Amino acid sequence: QAAQDLTDLRVVVSAGGTREPIDPVRFIGNRSSGRQGIALARAAQDRGARVTLVGANLSEPLDGLEDVVTVGSTAELREAMLSLAPDADVVVMTAAVADFRPAHTPASKIKKVPGQGPAPIELVENPDILAELARDRGRPGQVVVGFAAETGDASGDVWHHGRAKARRKGADLLVINPVGHGKGFGTDTNEVTIVDAQGETVAQAQGTKREVADAVWDAVLKVSPPPAA
Ligand code: C5P
Repeated sequence: QAAQDLTDLRVVVSAGGTREPIDPVRFIGNRSSGRQGIALARAAQDRGARVTLVGANLSEPLDGLEDVVTVGSTAELREAMLSLAPDADVVVMTAAVADFRPAHTPASKIKKVPGQGPAPIELVENPDILAELARDRGRPGQVVVGFAAETGDASGDVWHHGRAKARRKGADLLVINPVGHGKGFGTDTNEVTIVDAQGETVAQAQGTKREVADAVWDAVLKVSPPPAA
């Protein structure tokens, strides 16, 4: 049995990838499998936390998870997170959120008109949910954790971008993981560096998504030790 070091902590974890509707049958999506977020939720639950998983378009098994809220688009994810955050001690944004969404979503399927080229899809920017959660803390002492999936080469720009993002977003912890070239998305393992709001390294972890999840919870306990009984 796992150490019960998150006992009674109320945790909200988002997982998966948002889908932004183009019309009733099409969307703009991403390749996030949701596995890392699900692993975070499972690890927290095993360590005694009360966990709500907010899942965006997950196709992975969720057996054993006690509380799951299902969302589709960024707007739905944002609504769920903002309504759950006030009661949470720790909020983790693992979901891959679309930066942009179609400006207009017609109520019926967009038709191909013979002889006419494709209509351009106008995009507008989505709100940054993580930055919003970090700015408007649901409760005093709440810990806000973000993820940064960065592509790049080994020359260090992955970490450089991740650290800059940590400072920009204002989360207490940012988990930087390199993606692409068979890493991160859709794989069973992960390799991460966890930095604080100043971009300083708190921990490094490599292994299964469950092992990485446990390292993230260890880092949460490091920045915010539970109150002495
Ligand atoms: O800027 P980037 O998308 O790389 O930031 C990743 C982090 O920010 C993740 O924690 C993701 O869940 C969160 N995010 C968000 N809202 C957005 C974009 C990203 O909460 N619109």
